[in-house]
Amino acid sequence: MPAIVIVGAQWGDEGKGKATDLLGSRVDYVVKPNGGNNAGHTVVVGGEKFELKLLPAGILSPNAVPVIGNGVVVNLEALFEEIEGLEARGADTSRLRISANAHLVAPYHQTMDKVTERFLGKRAIGTTGRGIGPTYMDKVGRLGIRVQDIFDESILRQKIDGALRQKNELLVKLYNRRSITVDEIAEYFLSFADRLRPMVVDTTLLLNDALDEGKVVLMEGGQATYLDVDHGTYPFVTSSNPTAGGASVGTGIGPTRINRSIGIVKAYTTRVGAGPFPTELFDEWGEFLQKTGGEFGVNTGRPRRCGWFDAVMARHASRINGFTDYFLTKLDVLTGIERIPVCVAYDVDGVRYDEMPMTQTEFHHAKPIFEHFDGWTEDISGARTLDDLPVNARDYVLALEKMSGTRISGVGVGPGRDEVIAVRDLID
Ligand code: GDP
Ligand code: IMO
Ligand code: MG
Repeated sequence: MPAIVIVGAQWGDEGKGKATDLLGSRVDYVVKPNGGNNAGHTVVVGGEKFELKLLPAGILSPNAVPVIGNGVVVNLEALFEEIEGLEARGADTSRLRISANAHLVAPYHQTMDKVTERFLGKRAIGTTGRGIGPTYMDKVGRLGIRVQDIFDESILRQKIDGALRQKNELLVKLYNRRSITVDEIAEYFLSFADRLRPMVVDTTLLLNDALDEGKVVLMEGGQATYLDVDHGTYPFVTSSNPTAGGASVGTGIGPTRINRSIGIVKAYTTRVGAGPFPTELFDEWGEFLQKTGGEFGVNTGRPRRCGWFDAVMARHASRINGFTDYFLTKLDVLTGIERIPVCVAYDVDGVRYDEMPMTQTEFHHAKPIFEHFDGWTEDISGARTLDDLPVNARDYVLALEKMSGTRISGVGVGPGRDEVIAVRDLID
């Protein structure tokens, strides 16, 4: 059996948690390939809401083994807090497995995240403040601490010493903060060692063996295409590769083993944090989408910026992720809008662009060129087939499918597990 990857097609919060949960009962492993506790994936089961941050949403699927892949950055305090919170609500987290190669978020990474944002002033990224960027910086800079280092105290101390040398200079001389000692960081990490040890395995072996045995592995990407450090709206991005290719690196599942790449895309667009957003709304329609869609960040509670669907972005996302399918979410939120605008191209300083402009400057100047679609007023949350939808809603879905160049295989019509139109099977 092959692997399946779920990727956010916009700027995050498209409903990746819901899509994962939907497939959860039919998959054997759910692995998170990238990001950390900057994510917030919501699953609504029987009216009860679960918000996953560091853990894959697949932890709520009783038959799936949840895995934290090597590409994730792990905040151990947040990890155990989340585990305890879920256990208290009756979830079983005992199957969780964590890669020995995953990097650890240290308290100084969170400090660096906050001070660098402050230093950027008007140019701040609007990060989640969870230390994600600085942890990936240390990973790439070869100054990171990995999960496995906790089990060798002497190595752990050497690595912390290496990481702190330069950081203490920065913290004290540039940022006017106190210096940090090797002892306090070593003590912090070692305090988690006993609880962590039983969960840590070579996840690449675990997952590839599972695939060899015909098991289904779902890769639940965090963040999204336009937050990708290579393909996103740099520098207003996260520090990992949330695109489909990144999922391969972040799990050790080779690209030839992935047979479905599923883009999760909202029927409109949202973004949290700073950066360009061509279809962003500043009028009552923006407020309508924010209110009706409940567009407030799971992780930081920040209101999400809202705008219309952007087909140029959807086409480009489809291309760089090799999407086989789109799963369109939150169609129900558009109910009651008389005419729904969809961005089909950009006007950049008087020139029409049907595809993503090459440079950031052009994207910053991009003004949406809209096509308008007739809306619907009927409640669609009970629709379970495309034929159950009012004709205008169905036409809207089919128009997005045509414009985005990828078949739409599922449509979300509400937050609940069952509130979905399954157009075609996503696992085969
Ligand atoms: P993720 O980060 O991609 O997993 O998405 P989030 O959980 O951050 O945000 C998506 C929000 O939309 C959550 O509150 C979900 O419960 C909700 N949601 C997902 N799909 C649908 C849908 O089809 N309709 C509605 N109304 N809400 C949905
Ligand atoms: P999920 O998985 C939406 C955004 C932040 C900020 C930028 C960099 O729920 O879709 P970071 O803390 O990662 O260095 O912040 O990325 N961001 C997200 N936005 N959903 C997410 O995750 C996000 N994770 C990071 O708001 O703009
Ligand atoms: Mg989210």
